[in-house]
Amino acid sequence: MVDGEQMSHAQLAELQITRLRRTLRHAYDHVPFYRRSFDASAVRPEDCRTPADLARFPFTTKADLRENYPYGMFAVPRADVRRIHASSGTTGVPTVVGYTQRDLDTWAEVMARSLRAAGVRPGHTVHVAYGYGLFTGGLGAHYGAERLGCTVIPASGGMTSRQVRLIRDLRPEVIMVTPSYMLALLDEFERQGVDPRSSSLRIGVFGAEPWTEGMRREIEGRYALDAVDIYGLSEVMGPGVAQEYVETKDGLHIWEDHFYPEVVDPVTGEVLPEGEHGELVLTSLTKEAMPVVRYRTRDLTRLLPGTARVFRRMERITGRSDDLIILRGVNLFPGQVEEIVLAVPGVAPHFQLRRTREGRLDRLTVRAEARPEASAGQREAAAREIARRVKDGIGVSVAVEVVDPGTLERSMGKLRRVVDDRARGR
Ligand code: DLL
Repeated sequence: MVDGEQMSHAQLAELQITRLRRTLRHAYDHVPFYRRSFDASAVRPEDCRTPADLARFPFTTKADLRENYPYGMFAVPRADVRRIHASSGTTGVPTVVGYTQRDLDTWAEVMARSLRAAGVRPGHTVHVAYGYGLFTGGLGAHYGAERLGCTVIPASGGMTSRQVRLIRDLRPEVIMVTPSYMLALLDEFERQGVDPRSSSLRIGVFGAEPWTEGMRREIEGRYALDAVDIYGLSEVMGPGVAQEYVETKDGLHIWEDHFYPEVVDPVTGEVLPEGEHGELVLTSLTKEAMPVVRYRTRDLTRLLPGTARVFRRMERITGRSDDLIILRGVNLFPGQVEEIVLAVPGVAPHFQLRRTREGRLDRLTVRAEARPEASAGQREAAAREIARRVKDGIGVSVAVEVVDPGTLERSMGKLRRVVDDRARGR
C-alpha cells in the first residue's frame, strides 16, 4: 500500500471511506453503546457511503465514556487489550481507554510520523519530559521516538533540576514536554547559571495544553530551537493525532488516514464548512480496542487545506469550550490573555487568572510575574498596559497584579491557568 504521507487526494478519500465504514460496523457490532445510539438515530453502518454521511450519525461525548466506565466502550475481548491508559479528569470518574497490539503499533507509527514532521531524525536523542503513567504523553512519545530510530531519555515530569542536569550531560537534540513546563525548565537553566541557548536542544515538540504564537516566540527566543505543536487526546489515541511541520509552522496536519476530522457548531452540532471556527469532532479510522465515532473533543479550531502534505490542517487550538470564561457577558479565553502578557515588556510569560465574586459581580484578576530586571515603575506600567490591552482587545475590565519573580506556581505537566475562588465568596 502507498505510504500514508505519499497518497493522492483520491487515494486518501478512498481509504477513508473504506476505513470509516469498517469502523462504524465494528463499533455497532461490538459496543452496545454504539448499537443503542445508532438505533436511536435510526442509522446503520451501511448508511455511510461518503464521509459527508457521517453527519447523520450521533455524537459521542466524554459523559458517554464516563457512563460506560471502565470497559463498556471496548470492542474486543479483554484478553486482546494490551494496554490501558486513563485521563484523570477534573470531575472525579476517570476515562479509561484501551489498545490492542495493532493499536499500539499504529500509535507508534503516527507518533514516529509526527516526530519526522517536527524535524526529528533517526539517531537523534529525545528527552521525553511528558509524564509517564496513565497519561498518554510519556509512553506515547516514547514508543514513537523509538520507532523512528531515536535514543530516548524517559525523564518523565518533575524533578526539574535533575531534568536540566540530564539535558546538560546527555545532550539531547529534541525535547518533548508541555510548553508551560518548558518555561519552568528555562528558570532552572538560569538558576544553574547556564544560558539555555547554549544547550544541545534544537527541536521542541510541545502540546497537551493550549499555547500561543507569543509563547512560541518566547521559547524560540530564549532557547535556540524550533518549537512545534503536537495535538492528541487519550480518548482518540494520545499524542500524535495531528502535528505541525517544522518547515511550515502553519498549523497541524491531521493524520487523516487514521483520524477523520469534522468541525461542528458547538451549540447546534451542525457540521461547518472548511475554514469556519468551531469544535473539533474526531472519528477513529483504524482503532480496534476502542473505536470512537464522532467524539466531541471540546477543542476549538478550524480546518484548513493541507500545505506540506495531502492531509488537512487544523489551526492551533484556541481554547477548550470548558475553558471559556464569560465575564459580564464577554467571552474570554486564557490564550487571549497569554498573547497580551507575552507582548508587554517587564513581565515574564508566567501568569494566572483568578476568578472571584464580589456580591453578584464576577471579577477576574490577571496575576503576571515581573521579569527579574523590571523596576517598580516598569511593573506599574506593565500592569496598566495589560489592563488597557485586555479592555481594548477583549472588551472587558480586569484587575492586574504584577507579582514578584518566581512566585506563581510552576507547572509539572499540564498547567492550571485559571484559579476559581468564586465559591469562597471573596
Ligand atoms: O494531552 C495527549 C497529548 C500528550 C497531546 C502530549 C500532546 C502531547 P489528554 O490528557 O487526554 O491527552 O488531554 C487531551 O489536551 O483535548 C486538548 O484540550 C489538550 N491538548 C492536547 N494537545 C494540545 C495542543 C493529551 N497541542 C486534551 N494544543 C485535548 C492545545 C491541546 N490543546
